[in-house]
Amino acid sequence: MPALDPIARADLGPSPKAIEDFRSSMAEFWHPVCEAQALQEGRPVGVTLLGRRVVLVQLDGQLVAMPDTCRHFQAQLSLGEVVTVGGAQALQCPYHGWAFGAGGHCVRIPQLAEGRAIPTAANLPAYLVEERHGLIWVCLSGAPRFPLPEFPELHDPAFRSLRLTEEELVKTSSVRMVMGTLDDTHFPWVHEGILGDRDHPEPPDHRVWREGDELIVQYETVQPPGLLTVDQSNPEAGEAGDVTLTYTDYVAMPGVIRLVKDSPSGRYVIWLATSPVDWNLTQTFWIFSRNFDMAPESDDAFLDLSSHVRLQDKPVIESQRPWLVPPFWTQMELPVGPGDLPLMQYQKWIEELGIATAI
Ligand code: FES
Repeated sequence: MPALDPIARADLGPSPKAIEDFRSSMAEFWHPVCEAQALQEGRPVGVTLLGRRVVLVQLDGQLVAMPDTCRHFQAQLSLGEVVTVGGAQALQCPYHGWAFGAGGHCVRIPQLAEGRAIPTAANLPAYLVEERHGLIWVCLSGAPRFPLPEFPELHDPAFRSLRLTEEELVKTSSVRMVMGTLDDTHFPWVHEGILGDRDHPEPPDHRVWREGDELIVQYETVQPPGLLTVDQSNPEAGEAGDVTLTYTDYVAMPGVIRLVKDSPSGRYVIWLATSPVDWNLTQTFWIFSRNFDMAPESDDAFLDLSSHVRLQDKPVIESQRPWLVPPFWTQMELPVGPGDLPLMQYQKWIEELGIATAI
């Protein structure tokens, strides 16, 4: 049988090895898994990251992350409760009462014969876990390759920020989700009349470079009258005539993107942190920050427009195949334009990190 064209082969889905390669390479980075406020009631919280169940819990004020699977008969620990064992808090399994303390150490086995020590085989591994920007972040490997991402506007009192955590998962890989957010050449086609104009699909020149763990993209565009401007909540802004916008996109590799849009109105930031629930499912955590039109009653206008744009993007991003990003060389012979440069450079870096070599 002749070899399948790579595009036709993509319909068959990735091989088990490709999925495992994706999971193991992505395990070497920080990923957000839930909002920090989810842990405020003192109850354990179960999440899924890269196909693995993880339980998060506060024990004596310390944030702990470990497998959400009991060592004994594999019940789900996040169904359990926080108890005190020997003066310290621990997470008790709902099935037979084994309890696990900070570091994943098993600190109590109720059925253990008196005088017998708890075997070290009963312990669970602990994962790296941090709270940052109102989210809980987990790294499944012992040493993250890059630090947690920065978000200066969120902590600047001159900005007003809105959070949006989408309950519905996006049926795509987190790498595809980042690429879909970084790509601006689709604006005239997917967001015509809002962010782009099909009569003027020519992309501006993009400058792309790396700094530390970030891929930075910068370009200027003149927005014609009739389209919404950065000052989306001002109904007159769309009629105001040409507006020069400067976009600077910061991608904290591999899964967090901060889109900074500067205009005469001020600065508008769209921040997206993706969580690879698995190779084909992505949870999205959004934050929108602005330093103009600060009135709380304007919030809904910003959120409504953002929701409208996301719903336009979703079916297209979910339709992309292969699920996992193909090797960079497959793009090399295509007639790509200057607007594709950011995605090409992102894909190149993803491949260097060992993430994009599988299909
Ligand atoms: Fe957890 Fe038995 S399954 S204590």
